[in-house]
Amino acid sequence: KENITKASPILNQKITSHFAPITKFEPKILIICGSGLGNLTDKLKLKSHLIIPYADLPGFQQSTVQGHSGELWVGHLKDTPVIIMKGRLHSYEGYDIRDTVYPIRLLNNYSKKFCNGSLETLIVTNAAGGLNLDYKMGDIMMIYDHINFPGLAGKHPLVGPNWDEDGDRFLAVSDAYDLTARKIFLKKYIELQKENKITASRTLHEGTYSFVSGPTFESRTEARFLQQIGSDAVGMSTVPEVTVARHCGWKVLALSVITNNVVLDLPQKASDIANGEKEINLDEGKANHEEVLQVGLAAAKDLEVIVEEIAAYL
Ligand code: 6GU
Repeated sequence: KENITKASPILNQKITSHFAPITKFEPKILIICGSGLGNLTDKLKLKSHLIIPYADLPGFQQSTVQGHSGELWVGHLKDTPVIIMKGRLHSYEGYDIRDTVYPIRLLNNYSKKFCNGSLETLIVTNAAGGLNLDYKMGDIMMIYDHINFPGLAGKHPLVGPNWDEDGDRFLAVSDAYDLTARKIFLKKYIELQKENKITASRTLHEGTYSFVSGPTFESRTEARFLQQIGSDAVGMSTVPEVTVARHCGWKVLALSVITNNVVLDLPQKASDIANGEKEINLDEGKANHEEVLQVGLAAAKDLEVIVEEIAAYL
């Protein structure tokens, strides 16, 4: 398998011929769908839309997680040409963090060379655990800032030789989440709620997303720590993709579905139980992947409606 973590020319003949149908199509937006949020592809309206399994793309690795298939969908959301990544790679699957963002580098390079640089917006969705006490299961959070935990410790997608054609060595990630895109999303969200076209009870928030490696969900004290330093939600994806998209100069809109509330109470003490305290139910509030997928699926329906409506304005 070719080593794609090195800064090397990546547009080989094979890739170029696989992507040839995209050339005239000039995609404007890359959409990356998170856990159970892959249904956006149902909205693709292009008659001759194209589905490319990751397995057919040299250098793409296949996702190993349930709920994440691995296909590139090419088509139109209303009249806007887009590419949708159904399924994404996570570093907890064992991939080098730089390999998880390879599809973005590749598509950016292809777009610059063959599509007049048409691709310049990333929309990315994920399932996240809510840490902010105001957040309810099923709510949506527009990410407005992040904490890149693995990145702060050196597991960072821009580590290694710089991709000079994409961006500078040192990238500022303050204001990585496009304000104009958030304004557009907010406006459409309110409008669609008024028209009863999306769920009325689903609250839209803006907050800080903490990216952690996983695959474990947080311990109680880890969750408290993340909350106390200013995280509103926590998850295992998105920040690497956002970082590379920003390195490529793209605009970014990132959306979290709050699939569960993270347990923030400390563990119960055996000594307190010995002193007569009622024993708490340990299953209550414990995160599990099934629940994450289920809540994600329902919220994804609303996200589909909104993203389809705003694609033309981003
Ligand atoms: Cl609770 N934690 C993490 N790290 N990722 C999640 C999650 C929790 N819920 C959904 N994704």
